[in-house]
Amino acid sequence: MKTVNTVETLREQVRAWRAAGERIGFVPTMGNLHAGHLSLVGQARAAGDRVVVSVFVNPMQFGPDEDYDSYPRTLEADRAQLEASGADLLFAPPVEQIYPLPLAEMTRVEVPQISDILCGRFRPGFFTGVATVVTKLFNMVQPDLAVFGEKDYQQLIVIRRLVRDLSLPIDIEGAPTRREPDGLAMSSRNAYLTTAERQVAPQLYHSLERLAAALLAGDRDYPALEQTGVKQLELAGFRPDYVSIRRAADLSVPGPEEPELVLLAAAWLGRARLIDNLRVRPG
Ligand code: PAJ
Repeated sequence: MKTVNTVETLREQVRAWRAAGERIGFVPTMGNLHAGHLSLVGQARAAGDRVVVSVFVNPMQFGPDEDYDSYPRTLEADRAQLEASGADLLFAPPVEQIYPLPLAEMTRVEVPQISDILCGRFRPGFFTGVATVVTKLFNMVQPDLAVFGEKDYQQLIVIRRLVRDLSLPIDIEGAPTRREPDGLAMSSRNAYLTTAERQVAPQLYHSLERLAAALLAGDRDYPALEQTGVKQLELAGFRPDYVSIRRAADLSVPGPEEPELVLLAAAWLGRARLIDNLRVRPG
């Protein structure tokens, strides 16, 4: 596996593969890789001939009071894991390669409305930062397909819309959420949890499971179920941002007959903001 740090060397390599008729898969990440990220690499590997992985902690998607400075940066360990998982190329650019100007001067990509709900309400500018960096990375790598985790469900929907709206010739694949044995979704931010918080953290997923069971049993009072979810999280020691029941296809507010739902939650536990979601088909 090669590691490259500049757009120029990235393009040279990808151009050679493309000239040989190879299909390029791409997995964008912010590094500090775990089994969830590596499953995306495996999925890209299965769908294409070559796999490019980027590791870039994107300053544009962090708010002024968020964890950009403390976000775990573990490039050497990431490199070793990617090598073992069969990635072909690691793109790890310094900030100036992506943002040659101060962030405030850079052109942005905004996916309206969907970026302002759920996590977007609590993290203003977050999805614009994600959409901008992903568009830039797509233009740099020019992949045939890209894989994103369903763990970040709203992000996946934003990316699908971006690709559709800008007519980008890239297939977007979702990959299932990888979990710890006790149900906690794997995340780089789990490292922020104390031992005691780590014991509580799986309750985020378990409360979604309980709501799913209620929906499957025929309860369609979404606002009441959402309130129950918030209360359960508070009792467990979380500070919930939201618990929400939405239409899986587009995250709109569902009608009572909607067959494809997604339950989403975001909650603080100590200094970690955890998110999770669960698809439900009440039929
Ligand atoms: P990051 O949080 O590093 O995640 C990179 C990719 O891994 C995303 O597609 C995310 O959904 C996926 N992922 C994370 N945890 C996962 C899990 N437990 N199971 C399955 N997939 C998981 O998401 C980002 O980085 C950034 O916003 C990025 C898209 C790279 C833009 O900067």
